[in-house]
Amino acid sequence: MSTLEIKNLHVSIEDKEILKGVNLTLKTGEIHAIMGPNGTGKSTLSAAIMGNPNYEVTQGEILLDGENVLEMEVDERARKGLFLAMQYPSEIPGVTNAEFMRAAINAKRPEEDKLNVMQFLKKLDQKMALLNMPEEMAERYLNEGFSGGEKKRNEILQLMMLEPSFAILDEIDSGLDIDALKVVAKGVNEMRGDNFGSLIITHYQRLLNYITPDVVHIMMDGRVVLTGDADLAKRLEAEGYAGISEELGIEYKEEV
Ligand SMILES: Nc1ncnc2c1ncn2[C@@H]1O[C@H](COP(=O)(O)OP(=O)(O)OP(=O)(O)O)[C@@H](O)[C@H]1O
Ligand SMILES: [Mg+2]
Repeated sequence: MSTLEIKNLHVSIEDKEILKGVNLTLKTGEIHAIMGPNGTGKSTLSAAIMGNPNYEVTQGEILLDGENVLEMEVDERARKGLFLAMQYPSEIPGVTNAEFMRAAINAKRPEEDKLNVMQFLKKLDQKMALLNMPEEMAERYLNEGFSGGEKKRNEILQLMMLEPSFAILDEIDSGLDIDALKVVAKGVNEMRGDNFGSLIITHYQRLLNYITPDVVHIMMDGRVVLTGDADLAKRLEAEGYAGISEELGIEYKEEV
């Protein structure tokens, strides 16, 4: 079993504190959801875990099986089994989707155990079929000209190809039509197991009808303010952030 621990994490962007002491422990075998109002720091948390240099960690720790993640370079974090599906996936012209994934997979493997082209293509075909993706998408430049939903589906393809220990999925459901939502959920559920843990950032209960989380966290103003089971997401849907913050005695202004 692997553990990803986030302890009292404070993160600033251009000297403005965004995360104000986040505590969260994720274990393989578990799926956690994070919900929270816009601008509360959910994507900042994912960026800090993956090591985006624009996000300055001013206090706290991120530990992967006790190892200090904050000292690792970005590529090392990926090699050690961390994966991020970004809210806005980047386009990389000039590199095909297949090339990108094969390089990423092989970067994680030892010299004597690289995946050869045939093995890679077999796995790729299998995963693309499961995600109902047309074959030609593998040969297109990474995310270039992909529709919003295609990008999201492609993030799940990368997830299934790379098989990380921990995946942070930042709004993987945004902009998806109902069929695509089901396909994305199918991919994540396929990954579920003792060697996989995931942190799913979402605004809507809808995704959680297809991927049942073990734990739900509510994040507000740079902190995790409430943690519960799957029912917490349903409660949130019914009460909204205003209702929940009132109960907790947290100041929260609804946007008008
Ligand atoms: N590169 C940046 N430069 C300046 N401010 C930033 C930057 N990145 C994030 N912020 C600010 O940090 C705050 C938190 O942003 P973040 O993207 O983490 O929110 P979020 O919870 O993911 O919101 P959403 O639900 O809208 O995706 C916001 O006020 C945002 O404007
Ligand atoms: Mg975000």
